[in-house]
Amino acid sequence: MTLRLASVRRTAYSVFVATALGVSPLLAQQEPKLDVIYVPTPQEVVDRMLEMAEVKATDFVIDLGCGDGRMVVTAARKYGASGYGVDINPVRIQESNENAKKSGVTDKATFKVADLFQENIGKADVMTMYLLTEINRRLRPKILAELKPGSRVVSHAFDMGDWEPDQRDVVSSKQIYLWYVPAVIQGQWQIEGEEKMTLDLTQKYQMVSGKAATGARSAEVAGKLKGTEVTLTVTRDGAKKEYKGVVEGNEIKGIGGAWRARRT
Ligand SMILES: C[S@@+](CC[C@H](N)C(=O)[O-])C[C@H]1O[C@@H](n2cnc3c(N)ncnc32)[C@H](O)[C@@H]1O
Repeated sequence: MTLRLASVRRTAYSVFVATALGVSPLLAQQEPKLDVIYVPTPQEVVDRMLEMAEVKATDFVIDLGCGDGRMVVTAARKYGASGYGVDINPVRIQESNENAKKSGVTDKATFKVADLFQENIGKADVMTMYLLTEINRRLRPKILAELKPGSRVVSHAFDMGDWEPDQRDVVSSKQIYLWYVPAVIQGQWQIEGEEKMTLDLTQKYQMVSGKAATGARSAEVAGKLKGTEVTLTVTRDGAKKEYKGVVEGNEIKGIGGAWRARRT
């Protein structure tokens, strides 16, 4: 009785997932243990996702829930990038290995049976996903903790909750979202250079806000990160001044060398 109830619940969830992915619920019932059923990303969408992520030969690409491996195989074939895909379904991994073989990229594209939630993703310069918003949201803290600042995350069809994408596009009616993993700049900084100033910054994903102070004078700061690149706009008495820099650990180096900031 309990088992039957569990099975009915799994089926209902699969039907819900299938509906979200826009495929027949009948398909979903064949793979009840997956967090998300298998639906391949159309090749033109794969191509655009990799293009938006600006994949290059030196990049390492990870596809979480890799299906037949098309994302990592395409990254290797078109751009010479290395990488791997993980999928919990061994049938998909077999298909991925066959695809890598057919494309002659087995030296660059590898695949393994694994649960995407258990995978250490820190090696990825580019991470691709076609999962569900709910799964993306669960992965969000892992992405922010494990991926290096500047890594790119591209998702087909599903967003990442309140982490707004840095870029989006629509190809063949399919939504694509791109995020740059932001450097962490929350906290206090001292700007040196043309003008000495202290900064007290708050950060939500790539969005930055806070206060700047020079002696007793205070100003509003608004800013945005694109990976390690930061733009801060300081507004004082209605006048705006822009600071562009690159975050390197506990230092921000101003572009052009006119200023730098150190964490205090
Ligand atoms: C919608 S498909 C996407 C396939 C491929 N990434 C693509 O874009 O063509 C989702 C894939 O995730 C896999 N999957 C589901 N739950 C998983 C889990 N917990 N760990 C790893 N893979 C999983 C499924 O087997 C399926 O192949």
